Amino acid sequence: MSNNPNRTSCARNLTLCANAEQASLYVAEQIAELIQEQQKLGKPAVLGLATGNTPKIVYQELIRMHQHEGLSFHNVVSFNLDEYYPIYPEDDQSYTYFMRKYLFGHIDIQPHNIHIPHADCPADAIAQYCKDYEDKIKAFGGLDLQLLGIGRNGHIGFNEPGSSFESTTRLVDLHPLTRKDAQNDFGTIDKVPHHAISIGIQTITQSKKILLLALGANKSTIISQALKGKISTEVPASILQTLPQVEYVLDRDAAALI
Ligand code: GLP
Repeated sequence: MSNNPNRTSCARNLTLCANAEQASLYVAEQIAELIQEQQKLGKPAVLGLATGNTPKIVYQELIRMHQHEGLSFHNVVSFNLDEYYPIYPEDDQSYTYFMRKYLFGHIDIQPHNIHIPHADCPADAIAQYCKDYEDKIKAFGGLDLQLLGIGRNGHIGFNEPGSSFESTTRLVDLHPLTRKDAQNDFGTIDKVPHHAISIGIQTITQSKKILLLALGANKSTIISQALKGKISTEVPASILQTLPQVEYVLDRDAAALI
C-alpha cells in the first residue's frame, strides 16, 4: 500500500488514484525517476510516448519538474507511438505539432533524439520507413518505458481491433470509432485521415516497462474488458494482462467497473 492517501496499490500491477491529476503526477514521477536513474548510469532513457488527452497532465508535470526542479531531458531518446497518415508535421492535428506544443517545446530534449513517425512520405516508401523506425528502436536497445493511453475500442497506439499481437511498425486502417473520437480535433469527420502509422503490439510488449494510464468515466467499460476480459485481438490492450512489466494507472472514474 502506498503512503499517499490519494493512491492505492491494489495488486502487483494496478494503481488506483483519486483523480486524473493524482494519476498523472504518479506517472510523471515514474518517468522522471527513470530519466534520473539512467543519467546516473550515464545512459539514455528511451521513452515511448503517447498523444491524446490522457497524457497532457503528465507532460505538464514533466515541464514543471524541468522548469522548477531542474529535471533535464538531455539523455532522453523518444519514440512516439503513432501518427495519422497522411499528414504534414506542421499541421495542427499532427502528433508532431502536439508533442511540440505539450512537451518538447518546453524541455531540453535534444532535437535529434526525438522520433515521431513522419506521415508525409509517399505510399511506396512507407514499408521501408516503418522498418527503419522499428530498427531505430532496436538500435537503442528497445524502449525502457512505454507510456500508453487506451482507445475506447481497446486500441493501444493505433493498433486497432484485429491487430496481430506480433505486429510491428506499419501502416494501419483507422477504426470508425477512432475516427469519430478524432472528429473534434479535425473539425469534421471527412477531414479525419483513414490511416495511420503505428508501432506494433509486439514493439509495445517488448518494452521493459509499460504504464497504461486511463482517465475518466468514458474509459471504464473498455478498461474493465481490457483488464478482466478474454485476451483477444478484438481488444488489443487485453494482451497486456499477460505481461509482468505492465502497470495500469487508473483514476476512480476509469476504474469504476473493475
Ligand atoms: C489516440 C492515440 C492513442 C491514444 C488514444 C486515446 O487515437 N493514437 O495513442 O492512447 O487515442 O486518446 P485519449 O487519450 O484522447 O482518450
